[in-house]
Amino acid sequence: MAMVDQKTSSIERMFSEVPATYELVNHVLTMGLDVVWRRRAARIAATANGGQWADMCTGTGEMAANLSRLAPEGTTIYGIDFSEPMLEQARKKPEADNINFVVSDIKALDFPDASFDLITMSFATRNINLSKDILVQSFSEFYRVLKPGGRFVNLETSRPSFWLFRKCFHLYIKLFVKSIGSRISGSGDAYTYLATTIHRFYSAQELADIMRQAGFDKVTFQQYLLGAVAIHQAMKF
Ligand SMILES: C[S@@+](CC[C@H](N)C(=O)[O-])C[C@H]1O[C@@H](n2cnc3c(N)ncnc32)[C@H](O)[C@@H]1O
Repeated sequence: MAMVDQKTSSIERMFSEVPATYELVNHVLTMGLDVVWRRRAARIAATANGGQWADMCTGTGEMAANLSRLAPEGTTIYGIDFSEPMLEQARKKPEADNINFVVSDIKALDFPDASFDLITMSFATRNINLSKDILVQSFSEFYRVLKPGGRFVNLETSRPSFWLFRKCFHLYIKLFVKSIGSRISGSGDAYTYLATTIHRFYSAQELADIMRQAGFDKVTFQQYLLGAVAIHQAMKF
């Protein structure tokens, strides 16, 4: 447990170094595609029934802001993250008045069972994947706080299946993520970490299996950019 706490606080520290430039680095590294993918995931998510929505690991709040633009009137949206500096950026967004920001570790949420109709998470699964068991535990926590009939929509980088494209994708990450990310943000640690976690992450099928292990049903996924990114949907029945 002490090891998990140590890893958790080093991730928290890392994110406290990047908030001011976080969005800019993402837009540069993905050539703006991160915006397109978040919008796409938000559009899929916003078809949810029920008015209690939560964006986990919301960071600077881009996904929560997308949700708030699409949400039917009367929807309550939470943006949850353990990094106060990331949330400080999120609170500057024009949509922030419509979002309830909560400082919390997503591994132990201070919400009762069956609180939400919809949970989203974007580009954070790699960060909570301290080990496979912890990822299952985190997804189980999402399952607990979802209502029966509730949906989990997850956007994350993935592992392209075509080997040549996978090699090119990993080469791009090796050559540019660390150098460009560090130069713009001034944080070498954060972008070394990003580069290594993308490289080691699960395939879309493996991630779907992990969601099933956490209790989710009807897990499906769509892949984009030849499998470099995936949007998973999972239901609680
Ligand atoms: C790569 S950022 C993603 C932010 C945002 N969702 C996006 O689409 O850009 C990962 C975020 O997860 C948060 N995070 C990582 N582990 C967490 C945990 N265990 N509990 C709460 N937040 C966590 C970090 O503070 C950071 O803001």
